[in-house]
Amino acid sequence: MSFLGDKPVHRIGFGAMQLAGPGVFGPPADPDAARAVLRRAIELGVDHIDTSQYYGPDVVNELIREALHPYPDNLRLVTKVGAERDAEGGWNAAAEPHQLKAAVHENLRSLGVERMDLVNLRRFERDNPDVQEPALEDQLAALAELRDAGDIDLIGVSSVRPQTVRVAIDLVGIGEVQNPFSILDRSDAPVLELCREHGVSFVPYFPLGSAFGGGGPRALAADPQVSAVAEKHRVTPSQVALAWLLAQYDRLLLIPGTSSVAHLEQNMAVIDIELDADDLKALEGVQPVQVGH
Ligand SMILES: NC(=O)c1ccc[n+]([C@@H]2O[C@H](COP(=O)([O-])OP(=O)(O)OC[C@H]3O[C@@H](n4cnc5c(N)ncnc54)[C@H](OP(=O)(O)O)[C@@H]3O)[C@@H](O)[C@H]2O)c1
Repeated sequence: MSFLGDKPVHRIGFGAMQLAGPGVFGPPADPDAARAVLRRAIELGVDHIDTSQYYGPDVVNELIREALHPYPDNLRLVTKVGAERDAEGGWNAAAEPHQLKAAVHENLRSLGVERMDLVNLRRFERDNPDVQEPALEDQLAALAELRDAGDIDLIGVSSVRPQTVRVAIDLVGIGEVQNPFSILDRSDAPVLELCREHGVSFVPYFPLGSAFGGGGPRALAADPQVSAVAEKHRVTPSQVALAWLLAQYDRLLLIPGTSSVAHLEQNMAVIDIELDADDLKALEGVQPVQVGH
């Protein structure tokens, strides 16, 4: 077990983004199969699901509600706000304080809950440093108001630079940081280090290198060090990549995304993989790969 903020959770949760249609837009080809993945996740002990109303939009939250409501008492539902979709599936910022508040309420509605366990403020500063964003202080204040009102338990930050993590810790206290991080892309190691220093949960997105196009798992399978460790433990390269993440920090929580029950089962089995010092040393040599977002 580990912690999401102050909430005990298993170290391996589930990222629900892959359950929407192509481009995280519209419904999946087989909604029954998507609901079956969610139900199997709960059977396997998942107690932490990462989602957003803007996946679909609404599609993924509705699949979660249809498959799992009434929710198990121990299930932690986490969302993110700060963006919205246009009619063609494009992603636009929707990050003014009033838009953040409206988005939290959209999540409560589509998930059918009265309170979110955690809401991440999704920023654009990490990937688009030139973009004009609303003042961080105002955004955090809006979420803190909703926390005071009982709509949110914990506030998190996502896709952020280290300075934003520091400010958010000081101003509102945070339950998680959610940034991209994997054995293929360790560029946010300083953010992970900051989480370690402050005891904040770190929840990497793109834990297999990329959500889009299956590029991450392919790059992992092509890497000689990852393949050698996988062969030694009789597991897959993707499982090695997830086990490597777990070994980085005891408050690192996984939310691998999959639309497949077989992959879900492999991802949950990672908890039993014990990488030794030789494995970790060999894996330090894995070459970074730009697999595209
Ligand atoms: N805060 C943010 O801005 C942000 C951005 C992106 C994602 N996220 C969250 O982070 C979660 C995780 O990231 P992700 O899903 O985007 O990326 P990811 O876990 O790095 O990669 C998902 C890809 O890997 C495949 N996959 C999953 N398990 C596998 C396995 N055991 N073997 C081989 N392939 C496997 C999936 O395909 P299959 O469906 O075929 O398994 C999918 O193509 C998301 O679901 C979402 O909740 C947050």
